[in-house]
Amino acid sequence: MSSQPPFPAFRVLISHDEILRRTHELARAIAQATGDEPPMLVAVIEGALPFARLLQRLLPGQLPVHEVRASSYGSGKTSSGEVKVTVGRDLGVRGRHVLLVEDIVDTGRTVHALQRHLLAAGAKSCRVAALLSKPSRRVVDVAIDHVGFLIPDEFVLGFGMDLAGRYRELPDVVVYDADVERAFTSAVAAR
Ligand code: PRP
Repeated sequence: MSSQPPFPAFRVLISHDEILRRTHELARAIAQATGDEPPMLVAVIEGALPFARLLQRLLPGQLPVHEVRASSYGSGKTSSGEVKVTVGRDLGVRGRHVLLVEDIVDTGRTVHALQRHLLAAGAKSCRVAALLSKPSRRVVDVAIDHVGFLIPDEFVLGFGMDLAGRYRELPDVVVYDADVERAFTSAVAAR
């Protein structure tokens, strides 16, 4: 039997155990902050789904997870920086306290656009929970109410985050390294 792991041995930045421990803390803080009126959980797909499902399990009330997506306008390599809501335009947020759940806040454009959209749609409030934040990449100043980990400007994958659809299912948050990926691919091909 081969001892080859099923994925390239990328450097682990945040282990699954650390994610679980920190998300427990976040869930406690969220429950305290929201009090008697449970929030409506709105996950930014695809990447935030594992984090949102974990929060869902840890928060009281068996809250459903609603899905929303915001995408950059236009095509081509240069993003205009504008984002539009493409999934979940009509979630029924009117009169609800929303908790927007993100895997990572990078430039802040996605959170900014979604908060504006949800508040314009009648949400009473829109707080943000993000597993990761890269403050050094921020372009738009957004307030993150509940943040799991502040991380440096590294290309991270796993626990929902992908590279062209790959590695979302990794349990840890890892740092992408093209050399590590190439070595893994060669080793698999040589088997
Ligand atoms: C990622 C992440 C956030 C967004 C953050 O989504 O899940 O939604 O980017 O970036 P920003 O702060 O610069 O706006 P991505 O576009 O990779 O989509 P995915 O989750 O479907 O992979």
